[in-house]
Amino acid sequence: MGEKVHVLISEEEVEKRIREMGAEISEHYQGEKLHLVSVLKGGVFFTCELAKRITVPVSLDFMSVASYGDGTKSSGVVKVIKDLDEAIEGKHVLVVEDIVDSGRTLSYLLENLRRRNPKSLKLCTLLDKPERRVTEVHVDYTGFEIPDEFVVGCGLDYQQRHRNLPYVGVVELE
Ligand code: IMP
Ligand code: MG
Repeated sequence: MGEKVHVLISEEEVEKRIREMGAEISEHYQGEKLHLVSVLKGGVFFTCELAKRITVPVSLDFMSVASYGDGTKSSGVVKVIKDLDEAIEGKHVLVVEDIVDSGRTLSYLLENLRRRNPKSLKLCTLLDKPERRVTEVHVDYTGFEIPDEFVVGCGLDYQQRHRNLPYVGVVELE
């Protein structure tokens, strides 16, 4: 079975938007240090591109959570697979994620991080599918709002494939 991927958001559009987001974030945190928490695995590609566009001092940590589901849907049962290496107490924390879909994974993650008393806690996502929201999540920085379609690329996978595509695409099964 082959898979075709149709471009939804081009590489140029993604790069341009990430530059804009980097500028906006740099302005917001001016004079402060920023601690980025990248959500593995999907958030990593976006985190690297975004970090390069941020001009305030940045530190970086990673967290991996699994949200059980059938591969294209999350169930709401979330488990920490890899925790942060460092404490976040007193830090300005920005969680960087690839996509907010139902919102279940992020609401769990944000609640978990909030209990560790960061100085501030914000959320940045490359993509948002607001139509799919089941659990309310406040998104501070959004790259693109997209319709309810299953997308790949820029860190997002379909059965672990296509994360490395430099654009956002829709998979067509054939
Ligand atoms: P949520 O808990 O439903 O918001 O799901 C978030 C996670 O589901 C994301 O971090 C992705 O790993 C995955 N996901 C949701 N929508 C898509 C998609 O369109 N393509 C690839 N992965 C997705
Ligand atoms: Mg993810």
